[in-house]
Amino acid sequence: MSTRGYFVAGTDTGVGKTLVSCAMLERARGDGLRAVGMKPVAAGCDETPAGMRNDDALALIAHSSDPHALAYDDVNPCALPDPMSPHLAALRAGAAIDPDRIIAAYARLAAQADLVIVEGAGGWLAPISDSATMADLARRLGLPVILVVGVRLGCLNHAQLSARAIAADGCKLAGWIGSVIAPDMAALDANIATLRELLPLPCLGVVPWRSTPDPMQAVEWLELPRMDQGVFTRS
Ligand SMILES: Nc1ncnc2c1ncn2[C@@H]1O[C@H](COP(=O)(O)OP(=O)(O)OP(=O)(O)O)[C@@H](O)[C@H]1O
Ligand SMILES: [Mg+2]
Repeated sequence: MSTRGYFVAGTDTGVGKTLVSCAMLERARGDGLRAVGMKPVAAGCDETPAGMRNDDALALIAHSSDPHALAYDDVNPCALPDPMSPHLAALRAGAAIDPDRIIAAYARLAAQADLVIVEGAGGWLAPISDSATMADLARRLGLPVILVVGVRLGCLNHAQLSARAIAADGCKLAGWIGSVIAPDMAALDANIATLRELLPLPCLGVVPWRSTPDPMQAVEWLELPRMDQGVFTRS
């Protein structure tokens, strides 16, 4: 089977991209696929004896098919210490975020897997340098995009803006997945219904708010067709 990949974008930082990405990995593995996660750019890493490590990348590895077979540097080729916008974190680290390195790392992961789930950093237009954004990276990877909508007040606007920007940048939108990040959101069901109406792309699930969110439980809320049936074919 040829490798498929998805780029997981978010309406913002902290909206549930990692939770949803890990749940997608679990779902794909449940469907019998070799699935691996990737966090190409991570700003906010801990220095360890093995090198820089980022929590998102480690979570994606933990939910991948064969964690021990993965090279950390392939999963997270740009590991920046400071938790801030990637372009500023790179500046502070005296490093440049090199799309070619990321593409090469993606190719190595794709050679090991049937499915690669690539989690973006921040929102769609988060800068990664003076002149490039996460959108440029997603375009270079050439992957269909899944938009994670952090369901909270303001998400109707953020979701539409993000979907429009992704389409305007020439990327294919495979669908959106909600994650409820505001436990007391007023009119929650009506907001979710409005998202379903307003967004011109399929809803692939809405993960409810949980005090201790867990990808193994979140997977139950995904409305994905079996991943090996070609519904999510690469564009
Ligand atoms: N459905 C949910 N219920 C409760 N908490 C949630 C839910 N979805 C996400 N969260 C929490 O919100 C926070 C942000 O989620 P997550 O780390 O998945 O976001 P992200 O978009 O990947 O963020 P980043 O931009 O830092 O990568 C985490 O603490 C996570 O546990
Ligand atoms: Mg994340």
